[in-house]
Amino acid sequence: MTQTATTKADTTYQQIPLTTLAPERQVGVKLFLRTGKDRFVLFLTETTQLSTAKIEQLKQNNVSHLYLNTSDRQGYLSYIKKNLSAILTNPDLTENDKASIIYETASDITEELFLQPSRESIEQTRNLVDCMIDTISQSPKTSNLLMMITNQDYYTYTHSINVGIYAVSMMRKAIPSSSEAELKTLGLGFFLHDLGKARIPNSIINKKGSLDQDEWLLMQEHPAMGAELAQEMGTDNPTIIDIILTHHERCSGSGYPKKISRNEISIPGKICALCDVFDALTTKRSYKKALSTFEALKIIQNETPDHFEPELLNQFILLFS
Ligand SMILES: [Fe+2]
Repeated sequence: MTQTATTKADTTYQQIPLTTLAPERQVGVKLFLRTGKDRFVLFLTETTQLSTAKIEQLKQNNVSHLYLNTSDRQGYLSYIKKNLSAILTNPDLTENDKASIIYETASDITEELFLQPSRESIEQTRNLVDCMIDTISQSPKTSNLLMMITNQDYYTYTHSINVGIYAVSMMRKAIPSSSEAELKTLGLGFFLHDLGKARIPNSIINKKGSLDQDEWLLMQEHPAMGAELAQEMGTDNPTIIDIILTHHERCSGSGYPKKISRNEISIPGKICALCDVFDALTTKRSYKKALSTFEALKIIQNETPDHFEPELLNQFILLFS
């Protein structure tokens, strides 16, 4: 049952860590062992389960990675998504590995969510957030590592992940008594805060110059559009809807859409707003460079001090110290 591929390693095969493979499950794609510079032998077929014994055998032979054909990458990501919880509880995984798996899976799931919002893509996001909160509860260091690997290139989906990661870390700091169940609900709200942008044309989202009046009016509707979309997809939890609706409100009352102020905005809404602005400043767009963490915090503190709750801003700054 062995088969040798003759194409070059770098162009045809992708290395995957053994630690991402949970025992007694089908991966659903062919997996290969590397036996030489450009030589690979088939190790596991699409329909074979990877047994605990086989994993142990590989470890004993100091094999830490297997390979898959790059054209099977989507199949491998589907396997990761379906088995995320089992994979993340593998005791051999380092915290760095956990953070990378969470971020990479989040990128795949949220890209799909924004391209085609559906009940299924929201369910996948919910599962991802649940796994992320479970992992952070068991290995708190993963939270810091996730903050360090946030993507600096701005896309609506990577922005949603980055804001989700910052805001969950911030909630744990601002309200340490938050239960895991509460953090899971809040986390989903943070990941979905910009869902309404799925209904705004890309020409407006990615416009280089400032928006004209009509475009700006439409853009200001994305919180309400997001709440509506989430409800259409069966997500009507009031905490989640509140985060989506209020993430552009400001303590000064100068935000949108309702121009509500300090005491009218919930803590999660205020936290999401702060993380949203911070990520917008620290990611690069075609028309602006990414600011450093220090530069971004300085701007938020000095130029818009009345937009955010001073106590929350201080706690946010401490996340990076
Ligand atoms: Fe937004």
